[in-house]
Amino acid sequence: MFERWLYISTSQLIDADAPDHVREIVDISIPRNASLSVTGALLFTGRRFAQYLEGPAEGIAELKRSILQDPRHRDVHTIAEGPYDHRRFLTWSLDYAGPSQFVASKVEDALTAALNGSEEGIEALAEMLAGFAIEGHS
Ligand SMILES: Cc1cc2nc3c(=O)[nH]c(=O)nc-3n(C[C@H](O)[C@H](O)[C@H](O)COP(=O)(O)O)c2cc1C
Repeated sequence: MFERWLYISTSQLIDADAPDHVREIVDISIPRNASLSVTGALLFTGRRFAQYLEGPAEGIAELKRSILQDPRHRDVHTIAEGPYDHRRFLTWSLDYAGPSQFVASKVEDALTAALNGSEEGIEALAEMLAGFAIEGHS
């Protein structure tokens, strides 16, 4: 079965070390996600992570186990999960938004909307992540 998992979490990384830690996450994720046929995107605003993962249910479950217990972030809020009918991403990619206030405020808006149960907030965040992926960040 094909599933997706979209969450927002709070980074536990110290600013100066964050780029190195994010690079480590990406270096592990690219081959591991590919081996599980999982695609998606990770966005880091400097304060929060937002990640969209999609693929076979077993692959999503395996990654979820690792990601939920990762001390590099906390307060993992699931925004959307479960069976889904189509793949949005062709590969797995990362967008490092750094100190972009625009992106950070979009993530905050989406988190608030999604926590209030807004389907629009979920889609807005998914589209934002997809937009980065299409721009070809890796
Ligand atoms: C925000 C965040 C996103 C992550 N995304 C992925 C991912 O998409 N794929 C992946 O293999 N690991 C990802 N990781 C790293 C995993 O949590 C984990 O450290 C790594 O996969 C090794 O798994 P293990 O600790 O179970 O051996 C992420 C970590 C964080 C903090």
